[in-house]
Amino acid sequence: MKLAIGNDHTGVDYKLAIKAHLEERGIEVIDCGTQDRGKSNYPVYGYKVARMVADKEVDGGVLICGTGIGISLAANKVKGIRACVCSEPYSAQLAKRHNNANIIAFGARVVGIEMARMIVDSWLDARFEGGRHQKRIDMITEIEETGELKETE
Ligand code: RB5
Repeated sequence: MKLAIGNDHTGVDYKLAIKAHLEERGIEVIDCGTQDRGKSNYPVYGYKVARMVADKEVDGGVLICGTGIGISLAANKVKGIRACVCSEPYSAQLAKRHNNANIIAFGARVVGIEMARMIVDSWLDARFEGGRHQKRIDMITEIEETGELKETE
């Protein structure tokens, strides 16, 4: 398995810890930056990771900013991306089982590094359940592609 990881200036050390954890799991990790602890713009790194995921150059992505919000908002603007911000493992597990999240995001200023390891593990170990969840994802894709949703219920 190969994952891309990206972060803004708030998450450099945090990213390195998560990257090491992923590598310990035998996962190849492409580091999309930043390594700059000063100032950076989170959309740059959210986009880089999202692009790699959407283009199927990697199997998924991990994003980190102060809250996980800005960087996931940027990633979610790329077609085909479902980036979910999670602060605990239960949501991370369901993000895969129900939402088939292809990117997991968290906030370096929100969750501790040990919790972040548990979040990423829960997401990686879960499997998408398909069925009724696929239908809902198809509806999200319809909004993404047409700007509309035909079904009203
Ligand atoms: C940077 O200060 C901060 O705004 C950023 O890391 C992130 O939390 C944005 O959503």
